[in-house]
Amino acid sequence: LDNGLLRTPPMGWMAWERFRCDLDCHDDPENCISEDLFRDMADRMAEDGWKELGYEYIIIDDCWMSMLRDEQGRLQPEPSRFPGGIAKLARYIHDRGLKLGIYADMGTHTCMGFPGTTLEKIEIDAQTFASWGVDYLKFDGCYSNPIEQMLGYPLMSKALNATGRPIAYSCSWPAYLGGLPPNVNYSLLGDICHLWRNYYDIQDSWDSVQGIIEWFSNNQDDLQPAAGPGRWNDPDMLIIGNFGLSVDQAHSQMALWAIMAAPLIMSNDLRNLDNSARAILQNKVAIAINQDPIGVQGRRLLQEKSHIEVYWRPLSQSASCLVFLSRRTDMPHLYHTSLAKLNYEAGNYQAYDVFTGSKLTGLNAKTEFTVSINPSGVVMWYVYPEQRTLHSQHNKPEP
Ligand code: GLA
Repeated sequence: LDNGLLRTPPMGWMAWERFRCDLDCHDDPENCISEDLFRDMADRMAEDGWKELGYEYIIIDDCWMSMLRDEQGRLQPEPSRFPGGIAKLARYIHDRGLKLGIYADMGTHTCMGFPGTTLEKIEIDAQTFASWGVDYLKFDGCYSNPIEQMLGYPLMSKALNATGRPIAYSCSWPAYLGGLPPNVNYSLLGDICHLWRNYYDIQDSWDSVQGIIEWFSNNQDDLQPAAGPGRWNDPDMLIIGNFGLSVDQAHSQMALWAIMAAPLIMSNDLRNLDNSARAILQNKVAIAINQDPIGVQGRRLLQEKSHIEVYWRPLSQSASCLVFLSRRTDMPHLYHTSLAKLNYEAGNYQAYDVFTGSKLTGLNAKTEFTVSINPSGVVMWYVYPEQRTLHSQHNKPEP
């Protein structure tokens, strides 16, 4: 949606994958869906270096609502878990220089059975969110049919615009239509939403991450051209820092999400992150690649019989990103190639290894080189022409 918002993919934190629909504030007060949880995450985001790196949205997912609308028909938060109300929480988050996102569902109920936003409720819900100071809406699609969705998603876009408040708009619509043309019309989506979920929910496992990467790559001819400034495919949350990924697999998720120009929306416990997860999520060059201003989504270039895959994304200032992903399960694999074999033009290049920090200079397009890729891991390169000295580029990551 071309209204000045989300010219680069959104960055932030969302409750769902890690905290789900935990309503048990009695036995699990630290982790239940409550205003305390969102205040804790806002504190961590503001104080632990996330904000400075661009992480900005704190997003409430399902299970924040009371089962009943108020006398005026407005959604309201469950008072026992959100005693201060959403407007107060928004102020808390804004006071820390962050933004607040919220969740609603185009349909009779949310996916977890809370009050839905049927067609006649769209306007009042948009107004309620704006009046609270909400900055981002995730609009899910459980309990509606394709005809209602076809009416409802564009209507919410209009209603948000009519509030006069800039509100980023995330649509789950395509995920309910199988994610592909002809059922999904990506040019229409790009006109009404800033981002959209295309595919199944991420779970805390490498299997899930791998399945998502595979689906997006297998369908890249339909998906990749749909993305650009103000319009992003959303392969779902970053699960780095939870229980399901090894360190190598966490590198792989970060690298592939950067290549795919995906939203960098974490769902983890920012109060309890180990150093390796923190370092991966706070990697400045990986973030800069994800946030590159030209906003071109990357593509899978090659799938080798050896189960090595090569991904490529063009970046501003004649730079690019290469990711070598191993889907092997044996040992570090030595992969031999050259930039020329990866479609690079003749010339001299340098490469910066995003996760090790090492630099390769004097690389001719024809130079044969070897990378060692760990099982389910990646090697991620920022590649740029030799003539350019990184140090003179103030807006570029400086290794
Ligand atoms: C759907 C969405 C998830 C999450 C849940 C909440 O499954 O895809 O991201 O919002 O609903 O119930």
